[in-house]
Amino acid sequence: MTTMNNRAAWIEGPSAQCETRPEPALVPWRLILLGAPGVGKGTQAELLHRRLRACHLSTGDVFRAAGTGADCNQSPAMKEALGYMRRGELVPDTTVWAMVRERKSCLKCSGGFILDGFPRTLTQAESLKELMDAEGLKLSAVVNYSLPFKEIVTRLGGRRTCEKCKAVYHITERPPKEEGQCDHCLGKLFQREDDRPESIKVRLETYERSTSPLIEFYRNQGVLVEVAAVGTPDDIFEDTFTQLEAKRVREVAYKVSAAQADRCE
Ligand code: AP5
Repeated sequence: MTTMNNRAAWIEGPSAQCETRPEPALVPWRLILLGAPGVGKGTQAELLHRRLRACHLSTGDVFRAAGTGADCNQSPAMKEALGYMRRGELVPDTTVWAMVRERKSCLKCSGGFILDGFPRTLTQAESLKELMDAEGLKLSAVVNYSLPFKEIVTRLGGRRTCEKCKAVYHITERPPKEEGQCDHCLGKLFQREDDRPESIKVRLETYERSTSPLIEFYRNQGVLVEVAAVGTPDDIFEDTFTQLEAKRVREVAYKVSAAQADRCE
């Protein structure tokens, strides 16, 4: 069984303590995963976490965890957010940003982060940039995953998620060893409420309208890495990892040559 960070500070909020903390990295990976619902961001975030150690921070996981708590513990903003989620619509920017800002210690974590499902609008991306600039944090890369619509619908229809550690499976493509049970923590697997056909349609339309403009936003900042999300999760992971490493090597080489040029002047 693999020991994974339970991400308590992210899932429950800053008053909770993570069970295990990632080893501080010399140069932490700070990544954003972009792509339509069901493209495989959560699956790749988990694989990237295992290799890079950076924490998987999913905004959807935070909302779902709040939704499983007692009704009386949910703030009016959270109740409203869960309604948007069930219909497949985006939660309003102000609610999402309040939730992320409250968890900014996770963004500053010396182990790095892999943001999944955030930012999702230009307003969210700009707020994140402002916060990261103010904290002196630099994005390593933004990975954009793409996949044809038909394949996405198949992936969402067969998805199952662990109610405890949130690991993601697919009933045919990525089944657990034991049906209905998580391989990592033995938690029970469930089907997400927003994976119904009518919500899937709304989610995909919302993605096109509100989130796809972020591809250009990050391309203009020179941080975009494009990955075709076809093949097995391991193939896609290897492609992602190879591109991320190559990007990092290019940046280090550039810094070294700039420093050498400075010394020669
Ligand atoms: P969120 O939880 O972020 O969901 P999402 O973006 O819709 O993405 P998914 O989790 O559905 O898909 P994924 O790309 O992670 O795919 P996965 O790896 O699971 O958000 C949910 C809702 O919360 C939103 O609709 C919104 O209401 C709200 N929300 C959250 N953040 C917000 C924000 N910032 N602003 C506003 N609202 C926000 O894979 C899917 C399936 O495919 C799995 O079964 C998997 O096993 C399988 N699979 C993965 N890879 C492969 C492969 N290579 N081959 C075959 N099968 C595969």
